[in-house]
Amino acid sequence: MSLLLSPLTLRGTTFRNRIWLAPMCQYSAADDGLPNDWHLAHLGARAVGGFGLVLTEAAAIVPEGRISPQDVGIWNDDQVAAWHRITDFLRARGARSGIQLAHAGRKASTYRFDEGRGTVPADQGGWTAVGPTADPFAGYDAPHQLSEAEILAVPGQFAAAARRALAAGFDVVEVHAAHGYLLHQFLSPLSNSRTDRWGGDLAARAQLLLDTVDAVRAVLPDTSPLLVRVSATDWTDGGLTGEDTAVVAGWLREHGVDLVDVSTGGNVHASIPVGPGYQVPFARQVRDTGIASGAVGLITTPHQAEKVLSEGEADVVLLGRPALFDPSWPLRAARELGDDTPTLAYHWGTPQVEVLPGQPTGWAAQYARGSWD
Ligand SMILES: Cc1cc2nc3c(=O)[nH]c(=O)nc-3n(C[C@H](O)[C@H](O)[C@H](O)COP(=O)(O)O)c2cc1C
Repeated sequence: MSLLLSPLTLRGTTFRNRIWLAPMCQYSAADDGLPNDWHLAHLGARAVGGFGLVLTEAAAIVPEGRISPQDVGIWNDDQVAAWHRITDFLRARGARSGIQLAHAGRKASTYRFDEGRGTVPADQGGWTAVGPTADPFAGYDAPHQLSEAEILAVPGQFAAAARRALAAGFDVVEVHAAHGYLLHQFLSPLSNSRTDRWGGDLAARAQLLLDTVDAVRAVLPDTSPLLVRVSATDWTDGGLTGEDTAVVAGWLREHGVDLVDVSTGGNVHASIPVGPGYQVPFARQVRDTGIASGAVGLITTPHQAEKVLSEGEADVVLLGRPALFDPSWPLRAARELGDDTPTLAYHWGTPQVEVLPGQPTGWAAQYARGSWD
């Protein structure tokens, strides 16, 4: 069997394979942050399509932590009930379910990508964003600088969201500390020039992330894996580097994180050398510190993904855009790599099926048989 289709166990939780759905905003909630039929169909189709872990898009831990007004959330009990319907479906289809807990910080209250650029004003349903300082993300309104008391509240907000995630039936929680959102804003010297204990050297800038991880870990059962998504580099002089992130990964491991999901960028406008698997070396750098890692970013073919795992660069791959138009990517990968595809209802999609003992197998056999149920 390929590594890609092999199960993986983190803590007491086993994933049926190492092909995970990357978190992707759907911009499809009303302004109440409730997941709806779209999210059920979108996430459910990927569970049916064979993903080992189906991760939700960034789910805001507080209303002002949404990226756009159309984001989902996990800040109240109505959302718990709505998510439960979805996690029930994912579990019934053999997938593990994960929720990405997010606070957008100074990049909150932005337009859906097709509706505009920059900050949505209050009279259009927007709100004032918050950040480590009042420095804005270029092109956005200046955020409110968080006070000491407001910073101290953040880990508890993540923990309360994690508690709700458990109540909603999620198997896994991922803390979003990437892409220029609040926790990344604190981590990066490009967005954190605070002169109190939350700013300064890497340890001070990582404190809010580590406090958040501690608070979330404390509410999760021992058998629930905790993931953290990071942006390994800011791709900018003076910003976070892969070496910094390797140090942070070591701290995350000591604080009970089970896997680091390694992305890059998003905190400042930067020129990024995008190409096939361009973020994979950062996943390796993290993995070399002794913690499991996930590789993401332009991993598009099953053989490419298998190579990432077989060369020891990461423990899992996450797919974003390739999964949008190909929700059954894992089933297709299994076919291409010669593994079994276990989904009964899609049995006839695989060429390895044996129609009758001793008869030709695969597509040829189906056509030879000439009859379809
Ligand atoms: C439409 C869309 C929405 C995204 N939303 C999120 C998100 O909510 N959280 C996150 O961490 N990354 C998000 N991403 C980034 C993806 O998770 C992934 O890291 C990125 O697309 C690169 O992987 P890919 O080349 O497989 O698409 C989003 C990407 C896309 C295309």
